[in-house]
Amino acid sequence: MRFTLNGQRVDVAAHPMKRLLDVLREDCGLTGTKEGCGEGECGACTVLIDGQPINSCLVPFAQVHGARVTTIEGLDRSHPLQTTFVTEGGAQCGICTPGMILAATALPSNASLDQIREGLAGNLCRCTGYTGIYRAIRKASRRKPQRTQRTVNRGRTRR
Ligand code: FES
Ligand code: FES
Repeated sequence: MRFTLNGQRVDVAAHPMKRLLDVLREDCGLTGTKEGCGEGECGACTVLIDGQPINSCLVPFAQVHGARVTTIEGLDRSHPLQTTFVTEGGAQCGICTPGMILAATALPSNASLDQIREGLAGNLCRCTGYTGIYRAIRKASRRKPQRTQRTVNRGRTRR
């Protein structure tokens, strides 16, 4: 299956019905993408497919043929979210953190608290109580450049 992974064209041989989550972790060696529930409920496995946050535990590998897939390993190390999650207490055990950060990259610059809550509604955290996460995202949002905002945030695509 050919697709673009973190900016690189790749050709990965895996069963078309294997979960994208497993292909990324087992066949591509990218273990930053985490498994929580495995049922599309927690958002821990969130990756970006063509810029949209998607639960990779629900995506058959065949569906990413020709697509752009971004995992946490593909996020620029200088991205403000990389530091604000640490400085603002947005991460504790860290299982939800890669998914939270990737979902947050799809938010608009200077997102309001309501927009953040709505955008991250599909990402659950059992540790932080969310306050540090929202603070980290708001702080990073004030620093990052303007970017195109996805138009649909509430209905995370579940494939
Ligand atoms: S592992 Fe929970 S939504 Fe995928
Ligand atoms: S930091 Fe542990 S689940 Fe969010």
